[in-house]
Amino acid sequence: MKILLFGRGGQVGWELQRSLSVLGEVVALDFHASANPDGLCGDFSDLPGLAKTVRLVKPDVIVNAAAHTAVDKAESEPAFARTLNALAPGVLAVEAQALGAWLVHYSTEYVFDGSGDAPWRETDATGPLSVYGQTKLEGEQLLAACAKHLIFRTS
Ligand SMILES: NC(=O)c1ccc[n+]([C@@H]2O[C@H](COP(=O)([O-])OP(=O)(O)OC[C@H]3O[C@@H](n4cnc5c(N)ncnc54)[C@H](OP(=O)(O)O)[C@@H]3O)[C@@H](O)[C@H]2O)c1
Repeated sequence: MKILLFGRGGQVGWELQRSLSVLGEVVALDFHASANPDGLCGDFSDLPGLAKTVRLVKPDVIVNAAAHTAVDKAESEPAFARTLNALAPGVLAVEAQALGAWLVHYSTEYVFDGSGDAPWRETDATGPLSVYGQTKLEGEQLLAACAKHLIFRTS
């Protein structure tokens, strides 16, 4: 099984790089081009580069641990946050669907409004209050382009 991992330098991505390696061949990409094999792009602001990368690697599974995670900073750069958190996962979804691949994606409890004190259920209404939460929610919605997707809302 070939696994294409994005965001390998992050908290979650770093652990995934190790834990996924027992499941198959892992191509783990970083945001910085110099850390990647030639011709492969892990920069979520380069949407054509991402699409080309998926087509070149032809993975069975894409795992996305890359994101714009700076919650406060996202408020002052909403368009950039949207590109990283919504449009880029949307491109991965379209490419995964074309390959028949699985797409595994990490989202967040920020898609909810933070009210109440009971644990959230998958079926609860979303209501993000921040740019980070809004862009992560749009990313979830764009994943619908891929029939075989999994979304983990971590906290
Ligand atoms: N850890 C948590 O508590 C938590 C909670 C809720 C949701 N999540 C979700 O889990 C996922 C992973 O989060 P994390 O905690 O591992 O965050 P993180 O440590 O901030 O990792 C995010 C990764 O994305 C990379 N990145 C930044 N800009 C990028 C770009 N333009 N293109 C591609 N990659 C870029 C970062 O690279 P640099 O390090 O070089 O900037 C980093 O490797 C995210 O989807 C996040 O929303 C995490």
